[in-house]
Amino acid sequence: MIKVLFVCLGNICRSPMAEYVFKDMLKKSGEEENFYVDSAATSTEEIGNSVHYGTRNKLKQMNIECGNHKARRITKQDYEKFDYIIAMEERNIIDIERIVGKDIKGKIYKLLDFSDYPRDIADPWYTGNFDKTYDDIVQGLNGFMKYLNKAN
Ligand code: 4NP
Repeated sequence: MIKVLFVCLGNICRSPMAEYVFKDMLKKSGEEENFYVDSAATSTEEIGNSVHYGTRNKLKQMNIECGNHKARRITKQDYEKFDYIIAMEERNIIDIERIVGKDIKGKIYKLLDFSDYPRDIADPWYTGNFDKTYDDIVQGLNGFMKYLNKAN
């Protein structure tokens, strides 16, 4: 079982989008039973809240199921539990390490580091551009899938 945790600032826009798109990709490739996938925030701002309507609308448009999400904050226990902790931007990594401590086991990644053009995923909370967020997330997840297929 490979355990993957996607992390962003609020856990209502980017990381749940990555969680549900990745779950959909796994379902379509028949691999969902080999994975445990979740998402979490670094901040406390949105704890308990459901997915942002921008993410919800985009997922609906793409025919991707969006579960009964409740935003939660990453914990120290998550660092032990998950194999891959995948952040959306550099700032998330700094914030994650403030909560879980230094990444001594090398589990923390940035999603677009798995793509051909490593970069941050801009926060749609500020940009309002959920189409761009979706395209970036798909690009990162395709790269992550390729990476996993080589690693396992
Ligand atoms: P996310 O977007 O990190 O992609 O979920 C944000 C959502 C909420 C806030 C910031 C970013 N906020 O400050 O409440």
